[in-house]
Amino acid sequence: MLILSLESSCDETSAAVTYGREIKSNIIASQVDIHRLYGGVVPEIASRAHTEAISRITYQALDEAGVTIKDIEAVAVTNTPGLIGALLVGVNFAKSLAFANKKPLIPVNHIKGHIAANYNVHKELEPPFIAFVISGGHTSIIDVKSYTDFVTIGQTRDDAMGEAFDKVARVMGLPYPGGAEMDRLAEIGDSEAIKFPSAAIADNTYDMSFSGLKTSVINYLHNKEQKNEHFSREDVAASFTKTIVESCVKKLSMITSLDKLVIAGGVAANSHLRKRLSKFADLNDIKLYIPPLNLCGDNAAMIGLQAYYEYMSGKTAGTNLNAKA
Ligand code: KG4
Ligand code: ZN
Repeated sequence: MLILSLESSCDETSAAVTYGREIKSNIIASQVDIHRLYGGVVPEIASRAHTEAISRITYQALDEAGVTIKDIEAVAVTNTPGLIGALLVGVNFAKSLAFANKKPLIPVNHIKGHIAANYNVHKELEPPFIAFVISGGHTSIIDVKSYTDFVTIGQTRDDAMGEAFDKVARVMGLPYPGGAEMDRLAEIGDSEAIKFPSAAIADNTYDMSFSGLKTSVINYLHNKEQKNEHFSREDVAASFTKTIVESCVKKLSMITSLDKLVIAGGVAANSHLRKRLSKFADLNDIKLYIPPLNLCGDNAAMIGLQAYYEYMSGKTAGTNLNAKA
């Protein structure tokens, strides 16, 4: 089934053409350069930038796939969760396109989309499995019972993991979004240099909390600054990253009879996390699935991959489809 999908939930405008688990095109217009000026995503600016880009990006995706709107069998769109104004741009555009061309409309949950990114490269992957979704807006451990039946079994009680990376990076003077730069600095730093508090909540839930860890790193940095003492940004990045990675391992290792683990979301690009989770999986006989770097961040192809299964289980929408933050 040939699907045209749209994604506009945050700061990436993206359109893609997929066929089942295959990606025919995946065009992404990033707004990162615009939001960098403000140190984070400005919702109103994001909505405007989506409005300006969405039509061009859509026709580029069709062109690159070598198809026209007539060949498309359904239109899919991220309708939740995300920034409301940003989501509405994609939802209204997709609605118009679907109904003007008499195509079915498929609403897709952004988090389910992140997980589905794995279906493109891991052809043998099928539910049930446990998914660990880590992005700028989400940190969730999800029991994926079928392609469309998801139960959240653990989550962050405050900041998302990517948000913690970005906030610490910002205090260290790194440009937004700081996750990737923190990854690079951590590579050359000493991960044992500074002790930070774990993000794994010390109870029997699968929940995490990043605010204490984030505050502890920020206090460390302010303290050094006030005393005019030298500190190594590399060591801070390495110690912070190690604390986060070990917190993940701690919570994931609490899950009984874990045999298939799928990682998804922007933070899944973190090289230290990828290495450590591979080791954790090997040691515990867990089959680990990680998306390639180009499918970790927000993109429309992942929405199309999930849309295929949503459509198969009859989950289409009408003109009354709305966005939900
Ligand atoms: O999935 P995504 O593109 O957007 C959301 O749905 O939130 O994730 C973006 C997040 C940002 O916080 C960014 O800093 C983080 O992913 N990120 C990373 C890395 N690459 C991107 N965090 C840590 N290490 C990385 N290599
Ligand atoms: Zn995302």
